[in-house]
Amino acid sequence: MCVKGKITYSSPSNIAIVKYWGKEPGDQIPMNPSLSMTLDKCRSFTTVEYEVKKGSDFSVEVIFEGKRSTEIEAKLQRWFTKISYFFSWLKHARLRIESHNNFPHSAGIASSASGMSALAMCLSAIDGHVRNDKTENPQIQSNISRLGSGSASRSVMGPWVIWGKSVAFTDASDEYAVVVPDVHAHFRKLHDTIIVVDKTPKAVSSRDGHTLMEGHPWRKGRIGQANQNFKELIKALKTGDWKLFQKITENEALSLHALMLASKGGMMLWKGDTVEWMHYLRAERQNKGIPLAFTLDAGANIHLLYPDEAREDILQILKNSHVPYIEMIHDQTGSGPEKLFDEYEQC
Ligand code: PMV
Repeated sequence: MCVKGKITYSSPSNIAIVKYWGKEPGDQIPMNPSLSMTLDKCRSFTTVEYEVKKGSDFSVEVIFEGKRSTEIEAKLQRWFTKISYFFSWLKHARLRIESHNNFPHSAGIASSASGMSALAMCLSAIDGHVRNDKTENPQIQSNISRLGSGSASRSVMGPWVIWGKSVAFTDASDEYAVVVPDVHAHFRKLHDTIIVVDKTPKAVSSRDGHTLMEGHPWRKGRIGQANQNFKELIKALKTGDWKLFQKITENEALSLHALMLASKGGMMLWKGDTVEWMHYLRAERQNKGIPLAFTLDAGANIHLLYPDEAREDILQILKNSHVPYIEMIHDQTGSGPEKLFDEYEQC
């Protein structure tokens, strides 16, 4: 057996409305179900050049944003070992991975979600070529993405995606993500304007942040809250209930940061401008009655969500604001990864 080729995928980031924060014992098993919107424009672009040949040893070289990264190579080693359970040919693969993002670093956009899912999509396609089987398996694509970064499990599909078991959604799994069916027309296209107020790299990584939920005094309460919000969010998405969506979105964002603040060591990611923006947006909503909802990931930057019909009003209130920011990135609901190049041959 010998197959060689080159494949490129782009894969988007996603923004969680119900947040994944904290794990259960096991391999990247979430403490609670999460639900996210897949983004459209903010993407990682990943190319894998490969040769899979019986008798060869595994090797990998990673070029990230134009530079060789031995740090990423070392991080990926553990992941490759895990996913060789699905792709046994990996131990005979020679890989050269080139990846870059079209959004800036530390802008509050999950690059691990887009990056890991883009790479997972490339490997899944190579698997098809090695086995000579063209069937796509979204469960495996999501599962191997998850093993790299939990939130990446939700980026291999769109527009609204669930990861993590729940009594409110019987098809949901801890191992792979699934799409929310029958979403109301109101939620088929939302805008997400990312208000970047800080670009300094995070003091605590998400990986370390999840471990702060072990023995957290609010752990049990959080599991109950997330499950309740999850159930109500599905209802809001199906019925088109914006008010309910807004209530849950902000409750989840504020609760995520409250959990961090109450952790050992007091993880504090907000900046003064984060708080100023939240006050400003709430006041504008109150005064003008514009449908808007904000959320935050593990960082200081704000994701402002709003329906298409509110776009003009929102752009105006953003323009009128005196609260400082570094840049704004305008994104919207997306549908998942795209294959951009795929050529291979038997060798
Ligand atoms: O996938 P990770 O390990 O980077 O964790 C993501 C955590 C949050 O972004 C805060 C929430 C989420 O569900 O995406």
